[in-house]
Amino acid sequence: MFSANDFIPAKYSHSIEKGSFQWSAPSNIALVKYWGKKDHQIPANPSVSFTLNNCKTITKLAFAKKEHFDISTSLNTGLLSVTNTELSFDLLFEGQAKEDFKPKIQKFFERIAVYLPFLKEYHFTIDTQNTFPHSSGIASSASGMAALAMNLMSLEKALNPEMTDDYFFRKASFLARLGSGSACRSVKGSVVVWGNHAKVLGSSDLFGVEFPNAIHDNFKDFQDTILLVDKGEKQVSSTIGHELMHNHPFAERRFTQAHENLNQLISIFKSGDLNEFIKIVESEALTLHAMMMTSMPYFILMKPNTLEIINSIWKFRNETKIPVCFTLDAGANVHVLYPKKDKPKILQFIKSELVGYCQNSQYICDEIGIGSQLIMDN
Ligand code: DP6
Repeated sequence: MFSANDFIPAKYSHSIEKGSFQWSAPSNIALVKYWGKKDHQIPANPSVSFTLNNCKTITKLAFAKKEHFDISTSLNTGLLSVTNTELSFDLLFEGQAKEDFKPKIQKFFERIAVYLPFLKEYHFTIDTQNTFPHSSGIASSASGMAALAMNLMSLEKALNPEMTDDYFFRKASFLARLGSGSACRSVKGSVVVWGNHAKVLGSSDLFGVEFPNAIHDNFKDFQDTILLVDKGEKQVSSTIGHELMHNHPFAERRFTQAHENLNQLISIFKSGDLNEFIKIVESEALTLHAMMMTSMPYFILMKPNTLEIINSIWKFRNETKIPVCFTLDAGANVHVLYPKKDKPKILQFIKSELVGYCQNSQYICDEIGIGSQLIMDN
């Protein structure tokens, strides 16, 4: 069993003045949803996701050691002292300064400073961009926090080259979780479990792990076409949504159900039973929204077109027997999930019947991926 203290490093063996790294990290789509959390970003229930491939954040982290002022108010001389121990960073989005993203990063850095003692010794320049359109309604917090965590771990590895790969990726996921819960599932591919589950060996509330059991070929090349129904600002942030699970009348039953659903998915991943897969995945999506509809205050994040799409998918599935299903995040967009071999027919269906329900006819084709990738190491 790991504890958070396992991620507080011993003294570093190397020192480094300046440099830069660049990592990409993908988005992920949860099959069993994380909705509700305890203190310190501990999930109220385990979740499992497919790591995506095309929807990514690419982040460059440049770092330079700060001038070291080690001054303190001397009791003898009374001289003023300054210690240069503030967190210091600039944030660029697509090459332009982006002040409004800074508070989130500041909070993230404050949370993780105890686990990365070098943070206060450097000035950082974070330059980030997404491969998916900004304000598409696709959350960039998972891919964004994961990409930043990977870069920070590259720097920690430069300071401590003895670090094992296991520790590197585990701690990257641990740090990403402290930025945004679902981000901890974006470090690795292709199926990731986050949260303690009795039947998933090595699973932890502290970080995501690659699903360790058998996965049938039926799932190996799964596609996710994201239909952009509503690209507007979300009515309720997921942080507030999670909070509404405190004192929620159905919370305990829901958390138990997530364990049961993950339990069933373990067997389904092994057997390759797509009909059973569809039942769990669609029920999870609707349960997530049911939780929002039954919280106080209550929200409806689906739009009329979300329901139109769901009904069209059900009708198409019924008529064609093609194993296509939907899932939803905390918003109106619809993720259409299906095996690669059915891609031509599904894309045809999307173009002829679903695209009219999308804002500006927009959709994004994605598929299961392998996780974060190092792009540059300087
Ligand atoms: C509905 O990870 O965005 O996408 O930890 O507060 O940053 P914070 O929440 P976040 O919640 C995502 C919830 C979800 C379901 C899921 O991805 O499991």
